[in-house]
Amino acid sequence: MKKLGLMLLAGLLIATSTPAMVRGQGSKLPYQDASLPVAQRVDDLMGRLTLDEKIGQMTLVEKNSIKSADIGPLGIGGLLSGGGGYPGTGNTAEKWAAMVDGYQKEALTSRLAIPMIYGVDAVHGHGNLKGATIFPQNVGLGAANDPDLTERIGRATAQEMIATGIYWDYAPVVAVVQDVRWGRSYESYSENTELVTKLSSAYIKGLQGDGLGTPGSVLATPKHFVGDGGTKWGSSKTDNYRIDQGVTDVDEATLRAIHLPPYEAAIKAGAQSIMVSFSSWGGMKMHAQKYLLTDVLKGELGFTGFLVSDWAGMDQITSNYAEAMITGINAGVDMNMVPYDYHKFIDVMKQAIADGKITTERVDDAVRRILTVKFEMGLFEHPFSDPSLLPSVGSDEHRALAREAVNKSLVLLKNDNQALPIAKDTPTIFVGGAGADDIGIQSGGWTIEWQGKTGNITPGTTILDGIKAQVSDKANVVYDKFARFRNEKDANGNQIIADVGIMVIAEQPYAEGRGDSPDLMMLDATNLIRERSKKLVIIVLSGRPVIITEQLKMADAVVAAWLPGTEGNGVTDVIFGDKPFTGKLAFTWPRAAAQLPFDFKTLPKTGCDAPLFPFGYGLDTQSSTTYQDTCQK
Ligand code: GLC
Repeated sequence: MKKLGLMLLAGLLIATSTPAMVRGQGSKLPYQDASLPVAQRVDDLMGRLTLDEKIGQMTLVEKNSIKSADIGPLGIGGLLSGGGGYPGTGNTAEKWAAMVDGYQKEALTSRLAIPMIYGVDAVHGHGNLKGATIFPQNVGLGAANDPDLTERIGRATAQEMIATGIYWDYAPVVAVVQDVRWGRSYESYSENTELVTKLSSAYIKGLQGDGLGTPGSVLATPKHFVGDGGTKWGSSKTDNYRIDQGVTDVDEATLRAIHLPPYEAAIKAGAQSIMVSFSSWGGMKMHAQKYLLTDVLKGELGFTGFLVSDWAGMDQITSNYAEAMITGINAGVDMNMVPYDYHKFIDVMKQAIADGKITTERVDDAVRRILTVKFEMGLFEHPFSDPSLLPSVGSDEHRALAREAVNKSLVLLKNDNQALPIAKDTPTIFVGGAGADDIGIQSGGWTIEWQGKTGNITPGTTILDGIKAQVSDKANVVYDKFARFRNEKDANGNQIIADVGIMVIAEQPYAEGRGDSPDLMMLDATNLIRERSKKLVIIVLSGRPVIITEQLKMADAVVAAWLPGTEGNGVTDVIFGDKPFTGKLAFTWPRAAAQLPFDFKTLPKTGCDAPLFPFGYGLDTQSSTTYQDTCQK
């Protein structure tokens, strides 16, 4: 009996001993010893954690909702900036680093000094950070179809993140988009599973580098598991969303064939965190899908990392909050992106465990997964920002990489009358459209703000800047955002007709369900510039194929430029002939929204039921063949 008492006392001493006490003796506890195997460090730390501390590790809180003084005592495991979550003190890399490092210092005051992990949606560069390099959205990288380029973008993005103390990227989206009316189409590489798989794995390798914990490595988070890109129009029950967060209405064979392969590849590429989808399948919210989250992902595919919920994603399971949490955690969610009321989540977890509705085994499995990743990332050894990487933020080198990506993302849809390339000494060039001179429009959502924002929101070059830089001093460039050029008259008072008109038609920035579009229509004034130009070039800035059937007839040339990000001069490199057109469509382009959703298996190749442009289409400047529409309406 006495022996048992002594053992209990020893166990109590270990469980409550603080590193500081032991550190005072200069020796490290095993979990603090980086020379030991990760599994051994995890075992040691798990043996020291109280149940409350374990629940803290499963709690991910949005930075505007956390009280700093709670981080240490509650042992909060993770924090995040949602879209637009820049520091209240100001949006600079230094202030980001001060903010995140400040939270980390609080986390390290916890009894066992466990670092928190800070996450952000750096989905096309460190997008919330003003001055960061903003790369083309994934829809453009799909058209570029260059794994090496995509990997280099991941690498550069990781550097700019680490400069601000952030080691967790909620990216890449690996959705295989089946209906481009979805507002998140631009976050996806393609409608094609193989292309999504290839490019997302490359990006993961770029983000994680030579392995978690190596210099310049951040944790990737392929998302949203599984089938987020296959939801059915009209099936969403979230806000006024139509397809985002809706129902993936396919059988299991289709789910496995179209939507699962990117995750299999991501796991092989070393992904150690995966985000769960808001969408539903099999009559159930994905956050409640034990079969897919645990049996398939963790069992069959052998995923050893941790599953993070989406933004209050488990709350959508059922209106009874406690029941929702119990269902989600038991389904296999390991970390809950609460993101607001963390006290409520923690209290519900304690009660559920006390009632036996969530077993301690499930809690230990979740926490073991989370801690394993934190040790693998080297977070215990380097929890803070790396100021030596601050010069990489928005650096010339990164912007050159982004410019290369823009070059390669452009798809030439039509080029009659040798409209492209434009000669640099063209005497008169009219430029129309708000999108021609707007960094915010050319960047799209997840840029500085969650929904993105029009205007000069961050340093970069617009397409108009690029045009002015390209043309010789003999050229006269006239810009009007409304494409009205009626006041352009010659010395005799006659209307001036431009040698070349460049009309930029653009979608306004949007993110998630707010971008769900029933008609993909583009409001623009192409007709005005058409009347005033001998040759007309249309540049389309959009997060997806949009309806341009009428504009196509009016134009001599049409270029799909997607959402290029801060380096608009990457567009003009190509339309003025310094670089070739090499991009190919990663999404089938509809003639009308009524054609959607496409049945890719039975898609006609010609006639009015055929798409406007098929998957893989793209002219090059040297090609003699130009666009021939086989629908003669
Ligand atoms: C959002 C998105 C998800 C993002 C998360 C954090 O709702 O669905 O992609 O990572 O919240 O911003």
